[in-house]
Amino acid sequence: MVTGSWQDDRLLLSSNPAEPIRVPVSVQRTDTYDILIDPGCLRDWVRYADVGADTRVWVITDEVVWSLHGPALMNAPEAHRLVAGVFVVPAAEASKSLETWQSVQAWLSERGAARRDLLVAFGGAVVSDLTGFVAATYMRGIRYGNVPTSLLAQVDGAMGGKVAVNSPEAKNLIGAFHHPSFVLSDPNLLRTLDRAELANGVAEVIKTVVIESSAAFDYVASSLDALLRGEAETLFRTVSLCASIKMHVLAPDPYEDDLRRSLNFGHTIGHAIETSQGYAGIRHGEAIAIGMATAARLGVRRGLTAPSFAQRLVALIEHAGLPVVVNDGEESRVVQGLDAIRAIRGRALRFVVPITPGQIAILDDVTAAELAAALIDGPWC
Ligand SMILES: NC(=O)c1ccc[n+]([C@@H]2O[C@H](COP(=O)([O-])OP(=O)(O)OC[C@H]3O[C@@H](n4cnc5c(N)ncnc54)[C@H](O)[C@@H]3O)[C@@H](O)[C@H]2O)c1
Repeated sequence: MVTGSWQDDRLLLSSNPAEPIRVPVSVQRTDTYDILIDPGCLRDWVRYADVGADTRVWVITDEVVWSLHGPALMNAPEAHRLVAGVFVVPAAEASKSLETWQSVQAWLSERGAARRDLLVAFGGAVVSDLTGFVAATYMRGIRYGNVPTSLLAQVDGAMGGKVAVNSPEAKNLIGAFHHPSFVLSDPNLLRTLDRAELANGVAEVIKTVVIESSAAFDYVASSLDALLRGEAETLFRTVSLCASIKMHVLAPDPYEDDLRRSLNFGHTIGHAIETSQGYAGIRHGEAIAIGMATAARLGVRRGLTAPSFAQRLVALIEHAGLPVVVNDGEESRVVQGLDAIRAIRGRALRFVVPITPGQIAILDDVTAAELAAALIDGPWC
């Protein structure tokens, strides 16, 4: 075996063509970006985007966000000069699809979007996941920045570089890791969210604090009503808290080499619920809420989770107006959905179970019967 580069004499002079050649490769990439949480920062988004003189900006947004906040985005200094086009998708999970991805790619190439250009995702996490995946693939990868407008996107979805579209087989099946160049979270944008959309984001807030910290869990429990009323200071604090917890949790494993990640709390089950409903009729946060409550019930049945904590957690989720059980008769469809995910992954599924705030367990031997029972309300044994 000869190891080396082409300048290495031994490689050039190697007289034996049958001898294997080994060319070592080590590629490392560091992505550095800031998440700015600043009420009112939308008006300065161009400055934060750090756009070069010959860079054009392509905005991807959804119809609701564009009608509510498009004028403010375009009123920022320099925006009219830099924004070369705006692609507006329907405001729905269905926009996270290969079809929409293809339409955006075609739109960019027809307009001559170049590798130095910048995509800006202006919307909830459907828009940031879609835009990030377009950015990851267009011309083998271009820059994008997130200006998240939903609570869910500001506390979770717009950060961390996981980008994807859904397929009928599984949620987020087609995707990449592609970090944004910047995240600008303006909590003032959240003023136009209705209570159901605030609750949608609250599901990810609860997930984030449960996996990490008892103090953060207590803060969210005590400020939940203010959060659901959309009070400015609580929104600002909650977005800041969740952003810093998420980045702290991701830091040791930014590419999710370890699939037992605590951030998946509620998500294995939640994703199966969304897939089983064809990505319509249930919000992401609602599915995650059922997933978290189910995981808590699993934990109680296994003797891992104190019933008092599980009940407190489930009550908090319910207090936010989120569901905690699947509809009657739906459990078998969800279990089948989980079986399909298991088949795609080719190994046992792992469920994150909360033990106490800041402490989790990972179960990889949960049976279909256990799951079906935990998906519906049961005794807090
Ligand atoms: N990549 C990640 O790390 C990550 C993490 C969590 C969730 N997600 C993904 O996030 C998606 C859900 O995100 P979402 O809940 O933000 O969905 P979304 O983008 O569809 O937004 C929800 C709704 O809120 C509306 N909206 C957004 N901002 C608004 C505003 N300021 N005022 C009024 N209405 C507004 C949207 O138009 C939409 O109707 C799921 O696909 C999920 O898989 C991704």
